[in-house]
Amino acid sequence: MSTQMSPKVHSFLSKPLQLLIGGEWVGSASGKQFETFNPATGAVLARVAEGDKADIDQAVKAARRAFESGPWPRLSPSERGRMLWKLADLLEQHLDELAELESLDNGKPYAVARVADVPLSVDNFRYMAGWATKIEGSTIPVSVPGDAYLAYTLREPVGVVGQVIPWNFPLLMAAWKLGPALAAGCTVVMKPAEQTPLSILRLGELIQEAGFPPGVVNIVPGFGETAGAALAAHPDVDKIAFTGSTEVGKLIVRASAGNLKKVSLELGGKSPNIVLADADLETAIPGSANAIFFNHGQCCTAGSRLYVHESLFDKVVAGVADAAKKIRVGPGLDPATHMGPLVSQEQLDRVSGFLESGEREGARAVAGGKKLGGPGYFVQPTVLVDVKPEMKVVREEIFGPVVTAIPFRDPQEVLPTANNSVYGLAAAVWTRDISKAHLLAGKLKAGTVWINCYNVFDAALPFGGYKQSGWGREMGRAVFELYTETKSVCTRL
Ligand code: NAI
Ligand code: MG
Repeated sequence: MSTQMSPKVHSFLSKPLQLLIGGEWVGSASGKQFETFNPATGAVLARVAEGDKADIDQAVKAARRAFESGPWPRLSPSERGRMLWKLADLLEQHLDELAELESLDNGKPYAVARVADVPLSVDNFRYMAGWATKIEGSTIPVSVPGDAYLAYTLREPVGVVGQVIPWNFPLLMAAWKLGPALAAGCTVVMKPAEQTPLSILRLGELIQEAGFPPGVVNIVPGFGETAGAALAAHPDVDKIAFTGSTEVGKLIVRASAGNLKKVSLELGGKSPNIVLADADLETAIPGSANAIFFNHGQCCTAGSRLYVHESLFDKVVAGVADAAKKIRVGPGLDPATHMGPLVSQEQLDRVSGFLESGEREGARAVAGGKKLGGPGYFVQPTVLVDVKPEMKVVREEIFGPVVTAIPFRDPQEVLPTANNSVYGLAAAVWTRDISKAHLLAGKLKAGTVWINCYNVFDAALPFGGYKQSGWGREMGRAVFELYTETKSVCTRL
């Protein structure tokens, strides 16, 4: 792999990049296009058809037709499952190309996309393929006096689903959302993030190759305020699934009120990562570095608040700072790169703003602390100490490679501090004491608690947030709560 684009990706980017509506690739109704940038250079990578309200309307119509009357509702669960499995196989066959597109558009290292983003997407489609045949209702004993009854429940697809996804794991977020919706028998209109439409457009081609009928999956790239907002407000969309900022999550809730569509939200985080006095530092130090620096800190689960027992504080902070200094920051396609650029100029400005605010409020950087010179949206992996709970860098989601480290005296003291956040997405505990670990796991207000590990995701593990980190759980069996309606059928015998 060189730092040059491969011929395959070059030829994909040379095609018109359009909207997938009703099984056809089409230009946008307005004829408008938007640019997507290579974050390693700031140069334009490609121009993509820009979907808007009118295109969302067409896509919803196509999804409705496919849901009500196409071949899709007549397919057996097993046939749906086989299509999902085939899609997973196709993703695997195009692993290198998809990883390269992801690296170019998002900035993340090619090697990381190749071992994480793409294989996790494949796993997710395979896991959900298996579920297609296992979405079951139950028989229910009823106690109505007098007559005898047979009562049972059916699990039916919720209908036409709108899915709005972010730019931090473009292909993987598409897989998380599409897999269960399609396994359940829904049809979908997906809006990728405007920063990273490319891998999802390629996924659209593979979806067609896998044999999904026209209109089952529609893809409308465009901006959030236009295409995304139109999808969230659309009166013929039955459910909206969103991953992104808490701020936009609240807008989605408001927009959904018109037809009271079902809503699921996977939002921001400010996750506490707690190192107890008896932790094994051989794993806790690299684990804590990975917790914040994986994907350049652009993870909703990023372990951005590091709480360390005072007896180990200096050692752990020095270890994490050392790891930060050893990270080679560079273009994602360069094999020597550990960490790529942030996704956009906007995110670079946002993260730099947090670094400046930390410095102004008296935080001290023991590693990094600055953005790197352009071109490209590069920032130094950063470890901040001398921080106070009320500082912006401790309270707000930075969504960059910036961790704040804070010492504590005993686990009783760290628990309320760790839970003191409007977010509740993830948390971690490092300790050799299993009782302490599980007691804390029970008391941390977070949708996921990792013990002696971090950022471990699996298609079988439900994922989602407490508090303002979201509504509902994706993945695992739990996700079918989001994509099915339960119907009770009651017969007097
Ligand atoms: P965002 O929430 O604006 O974007 C996420 C998605 O929502 C994109 O597809 C965007 O086009 C869409 N969107 C934006 N406004 C919309 C609206 N009014 N209606 C419907 N859809 C809309 O996030 P942004 O601006 O890219 O990043 C800002 C911050 O959000 C980040 O710094 C980070 O803190 C957080 N974020 C969290 C993510 C997560 O995984 N939980 C992912 C991305 C961002
Ligand atoms: Mg935004």
